[in-house]
Amino acid sequence: MPVTAYAHTNIALVKYWGKHTQSANLPAVGSLSLTLKPFGTQTTVTLTHQKEDEFHLNGMLVTAFTLAYQKVRTHLERIRELAGSHQHCLVISENNVPTAAGLASSASGFAALTLAATKAYGLTLETPELSRLARMGSGSAARSLYGGFAYMPSGQVGDEKCYAHPIKAASGLDVAMLIVPCAQGEKPISSTQAMLHTEATSPYYSDWVKTHADDLERGIKAVENGDLSTLGETMEHSTLKMHASLMAAQPGFWYFTPHTIAAIQSVRHLRKEGYTCYFTMDAGPHVKVLCSKADAHQLQTLIAQNMHTTHGLLPTAPIEIAEPGPAAYILQGD
Ligand code: PMV
Repeated sequence: MPVTAYAHTNIALVKYWGKHTQSANLPAVGSLSLTLKPFGTQTTVTLTHQKEDEFHLNGMLVTAFTLAYQKVRTHLERIRELAGSHQHCLVISENNVPTAAGLASSASGFAALTLAATKAYGLTLETPELSRLARMGSGSAARSLYGGFAYMPSGQVGDEKCYAHPIKAASGLDVAMLIVPCAQGEKPISSTQAMLHTEATSPYYSDWVKTHADDLERGIKAVENGDLSTLGETMEHSTLKMHASLMAAQPGFWYFTPHTIAAIQSVRHLRKEGYTCYFTMDAGPHVKVLCSKADAHQLQTLIAQNMHTTHGLLPTAPIEIAEPGPAAYILQGD
């Protein structure tokens, strides 16, 4: 029986950046995220009698020697080991999110794969266990099992139980996230490559880790208290620290394009004008803007206008509005 699952993507407000151990993909720092709709991944897993797993992404066969295939197969091996199965499978995934462009397609991808594949192999797992498994595929995927706000603690070496937790937001916290596209095509280096490079060579990495717990605590409290300004300020601080640590690596690296700079300056300008809006960037050039749901449509126009009048640049594609999304779910085959 084919099993189809859907997982929404999530954006980290307080970033995960750095690993304790690569093998179990244990994060060196915790993180706080918001799951978003409409972006996400739909994945169907069907057990087969073939000699190898077969993986299709966005209508294309992914060949066995690619990194994407290897990551999916390694993840399926973990699930097969848990299920005590040697049977291979066919995985068909569709991303409703630009792939590998810093919009966290790996988060929704590994969350949907974990949910669909565990079911297809006959396992019935609770959400924490699904989150723990998803984390091994991609750190951010652990959070996409949950709807709304979620946090992920940092892992300790040998801590196999590290998984994400939902956070109950104060009832007045009605937020939206604007996605401002700031480049076309795929990002030049993956988040894993960039974070390992930072860890290995950046003199700022140890301070990033040292100062991270305070940001996480402040961010979680702001969600629980419905304090959008504190949440937004903490979010900007976290993303700038993360990117600064990468810039200070040897050789230094940055994902920003001129559009990224124009977008973040426009957000700061609009904040001075009285709008409650804050930016964040992941391992990619795009800017995501946290704001109240009531302001989202107005800011969608104002950010593009301000980028154009002040910097002579427009977002590389229309700005989209995302809203808090639900937990990952089974669409078919339950
Ligand atoms: O899930 P990964 O291994 O692709 O890493 C995600 C890293 C960031 O997106 C930059 C931050 C985060 O917490 O999602």
